[in-house]
Amino acid sequence: MKGIEAREISRTFRVDGHALPVLCGVSVAAPPGGFVAVLGPSGSGKSTLLSIMAGLDRPDAGRVVVDGRDVTGRLGLAGYMPQRDLLLPWRRTLDNVALGPELSGMSRADARRLAASHFPRFGLAGFERAYPRTLSGGMRQRAALLRTFLSEREILLLDEPLGALDAMTRMDLQSWLLDVWEEMRKTIVLVTHDVDEAIYLADRIYLLSSRPARVSAVLDVDLRRPRPYDEIVTSTRFLSLKREILGLLGHRPVVTT
Ligand SMILES: Nc1ncnc2c1ncn2[C@@H]1O[C@H](COP(=O)(O)OP(=O)(O)OP(=O)(O)O)[C@@H](O)[C@H]1O
Ligand SMILES: [Mg+2]
Repeated sequence: MKGIEAREISRTFRVDGHALPVLCGVSVAAPPGGFVAVLGPSGSGKSTLLSIMAGLDRPDAGRVVVDGRDVTGRLGLAGYMPQRDLLLPWRRTLDNVALGPELSGMSRADARRLAASHFPRFGLAGFERAYPRTLSGGMRQRAALLRTFLSEREILLLDEPLGALDAMTRMDLQSWLLDVWEEMRKTIVLVTHDVDEAIYLADRIYLLSSRPARVSAVLDVDLRRPRPYDEIVTSTRFLSLKREILGLLGHRPVVTT
């Protein structure tokens, strides 16, 4: 099993002739088999960091390291789910999901068989032949996630994989994501701006400041696993971690007596 590290990453974009510093010496490390969350406000640079870790963009300074090797700018080492689900509208759902293993070099027939075998577990049974536009938002995100999980990569980089879902669906998919992760055993870096989601899912949380992003805190989430949703999110430890993070983010939690 492989881990991934971003070491001292800095990135400045040029916008209309002006420098826009986005990342400033950001270091994030996901140990082999670990679940790390990167939590930060909108526009802080989370997607930029993840695309650098995926090898899609190059940092101005710093390195991406997998298994002790410098892999900065190298594509294809990790499975990457971009912030928008990017299902291909002209491909049926099964063929969209099969694209994950196909791009890793599997034959189309094998890829389709593999993809189909996971449809029930991902709550997509019966929708193999449906086109993405006929699926619900949650189903589209599950299909995109399954495609990423089947990319045969040990490391997954997930950019707000449960964003844009209503609270109920989101809670459901968070528990589901933990189940699938425990079953398939991958190293995960998940980007989110949802405090509860980061605490519920991760072993460790990297808190980013607003742009230009620096790591403002690293918190270890010492909640037991497996994590039954209702029990965990109402536990004293969960709430104290949440209070700590909200404090670091500059929010004052409402105190009820
Ligand atoms: N290719 C680019 N060229 C210029 N500016 C960019 C580019 N990509 C991102 N930016 C800028 O970098 C900043 C950070 O963007 P980024 O998408 O990384 O934020 P984010 O933390 O993922 O936000 P959100 O939570 O809204 O998804 C923004 O101000 C954005 O406009
Ligand atoms: Mg983003």
